[in-house]
Amino acid sequence: MSSNMWIRQIHRWLSIAFTIAVIANIVALTMQIQATWIGLLAFVPLIPLLATGLYMFAQPYLGRRSVNGARS
Ligand code: HEM
Repeated sequence: MSSNMWIRQIHRWLSIAFTIAVIANIVALTMQIQATWIGLLAFVPLIPLLATGLYMFAQPYLGRRSVNGARS
């Protein structure tokens, strides 16, 4: 698997972690649980999501190998 494919896979799985963190936030809100760490939980996957997402976004403009790897 090329490094671009690894970046895409990491982004893909981090999106699941982020979704779970958002759901945990909503559950905590509705249960009126006051915990700052739950609020900050979503930032753990969001920061590498931003980095890998911006990397994928930039790839076509950098004129290197396609982000889609074998797919394009
Ligand atoms: C934080 C800023 C983010 C940026 C800059 C970003 C950027 C990108 C880019 C450029 C792509 C590739 C699109 C293409 O195929 O041309 C992508 C794919 C994707 N993004 Fe993001 N994204 C971000 C956050 C998220 C979040 C929050 C989620 C979901 C919770 C998410 C889920 C996905 C998924 C599932 C894909 C498809 C991955 C695949 O092909 O397997 N992203 N994103």
